[in-house]
Amino acid sequence: MLTGRHPQQSRPRAGVNLQNYLFHLDNLSLEYGAVKALKSVQLTIYPGEILFVTGASGAGKTSLLSILGGHLAPTSGKVILPHERNSKHFVATVFQDLRLLQKKSCEDNLWLSYDSSIYNNKNEFYRDMEELCHTLKVKDQLSRKIEDCNGGLRQKIAMIRALLSKPTAILADEPTSSLDKESSYLLFEVLNHFNHKKGLTLIWATHNKELIKQFPGKIAHLEGGRLVYSGHACFI
Ligand SMILES: Nc1ncnc2c1ncn2[C@@H]1O[C@H](COP(=O)(O)OP(=O)(O)O)[C@@H](O)[C@H]1O
Ligand SMILES: [Mg+2]
Repeated sequence: MLTGRHPQQSRPRAGVNLQNYLFHLDNLSLEYGAVKALKSVQLTIYPGEILFVTGASGAGKTSLLSILGGHLAPTSGKVILPHERNSKHFVATVFQDLRLLQKKSCEDNLWLSYDSSIYNNKNEFYRDMEELCHTLKVKDQLSRKIEDCNGGLRQKIAMIRALLSKPTAILADEPTSSLDKESSYLLFEVLNHFNHKKGLTLIWATHNKELIKQFPGKIAHLEGGRLVYSGHACFI
């Protein structure tokens, strides 16, 4: 459903000496026909990092996240994954279009993340669901059909669904675009908490400079498909 594995995954080539990384993008390019969406991107992402992927519309943010999530293969270059990656590692993606089931309720959409291999029983899942819904102030909205919900509520449901799948990394594509300032901060507080307590890696495409300034993290800034800056967010 929301989890991506890498059809194009490969191991580090001899001579690449990277320790404990989660993803290494090696000279990665992506073309859609004549459009060069990503150009020779070189980037290493480590477990437990918060990485904001920034850039103007059309800069390549969605393309980069799609490749990291295993939903698109690069035209050239590689996504290199560590040797020790095991089946417990997986990446949850919150797509820009959210991919929720419109005719189903919020709660039904959340139950799509239930997996008996990661929860001992349904009660345990339900407790986690209730806690997250309470924190994000959506507990009294759960019976509403997605098609009747506003954009902000949908974004929260998509993010809670991703968190309930207990990923080691979340890729989120502009997940606060329909949220007001207060809700954006609240959502990011929750993700920050998972980052601190559980080492969740967060890779977040955003235009929201205010948010970036408030929270510790790195940025990878794209311009016209090129990675023009990668490093601490305090320099933006
Ligand atoms: N499916 C597609 N077919 C053709 N061009 C695309 C497609 N998806 C994205 N593009 C183009 O690739 C470039 C990067 O797009 P995208 O990754 O969506 O950027 P961003 O998320 O930063 O707005 C843009 O020029 C965009 O128009
Ligand atoms: Mg985009």
